[in-house]
Amino acid sequence: MTISLTIHHEHPEPEHIQRAAQTLQQGGLVAFPTETVYGLGANALDENAVQKIFTAKGRPSEDPLIIHLSSVEQLPQVCATVPETAQLLAEKFWPGPLTLILPKNKHVPYAVTAGLETVAVRVPSHPVAQALLKSCNLPIAAPSANRFGHTSPTLATHVMHDLDGRIDIILDGGPASIGVESTVLDISTSPARILRPGGVPREALEALLGPIDVLDVKRKAEAGLPSPGLLEKHYAPRAELVFFLSQDAREQMLVYLSGEKARGRTVGVLAAQEEAPAFEKAGALAYRLGDSNDTAQIAKRLYAGMRWLDRQKVDVILCRDFGEAGLGLAIRDRLRRAAVKVIH
Ligand code: TXA
Ligand code: MG
Repeated sequence: MTISLTIHHEHPEPEHIQRAAQTLQQGGLVAFPTETVYGLGANALDENAVQKIFTAKGRPSEDPLIIHLSSVEQLPQVCATVPETAQLLAEKFWPGPLTLILPKNKHVPYAVTAGLETVAVRVPSHPVAQALLKSCNLPIAAPSANRFGHTSPTLATHVMHDLDGRIDIILDGGPASIGVESTVLDISTSPARILRPGGVPREALEALLGPIDVLDVKRKAEAGLPSPGLLEKHYAPRAELVFFLSQDAREQMLVYLSGEKARGRTVGVLAAQEEAPAFEKAGALAYRLGDSNDTAQIAKRLYAGMRWLDRQKVDVILCRDFGEAGLGLAIRDRLRRAAVKVIH
């Protein structure tokens, strides 16, 4: 049985936090809100507890987990060394949606890192996550709280849908404010390299570090997996998602839409606010993501939109690219991985 506890997102009730913290200390599983998506937490230093995460999610063991800390001061509990660049980034972006890849120390079980000598760490800013991490006083391993390969949860109901009966507690703290996962940054290379675009935009990192690279998911899939677990196909809804990366995406989507309708298929569109009426007129079910220039709003509603259209049982979901600025890069990455077809 999974217990769902409704908790205030800014001033979490101490009794709920204590109960969840105790469960973590005893080796249990707790789903909790972070500013990016909901996480599924376990004591990172307890190998048995960590194994339960993989079982609950149906996640392959070669996919490493992110360790969550309450503050930068806890880094020595899981890292062998803390490079100066990490300190600099931590000062600027923690607490917040940035994950750093650092050398692991001997206390971190290889189950967390999938056998790697490095460990992914971040300090989340969500008040519920903060309160929980402080109260249990442990480093907490937490992937997104969804079944493996499914869309990441931005609401507690999404977690329930995927993991009810498989985990001990869900802290329901309302919607995740950013809506896509953290940016994963490898600072061991020069220049540093984004392994997964996310909540901290590339521009913000470059303002501090100078030019950085972004790992190309396509090339990586061909060359093998330098970062295990960054599988190409991921974050997928049940419906067939078609992603339009071309200049004239809007027109192409309308053509594609009428083709699908002619074949008797139902079509959903993850649409920019101002573009939704045209798709509706053409017979699609449109989910309004937000203004096309507002990548923060689009990111926030992206996963909820995929899950919503799935619930309406559409056969196909269409979505276009929203550029690279701000959270655009993270949105593109997730859509590319969720898509069965990319139209250039
Ligand atoms: O926003 C987030 O990051 C959320 C919340 C819950 O914090 N967590 C999350 O975890 O997205 P997960 O497990 O779904 O994604 C972890 C990512 C994977 O892409 C994995 O490959 C990468 O981090 N990763 C973990 N450890 C790594 C390592 N040692 N080297 C390279 N990549 C690593
Ligand atoms: Mg995930």
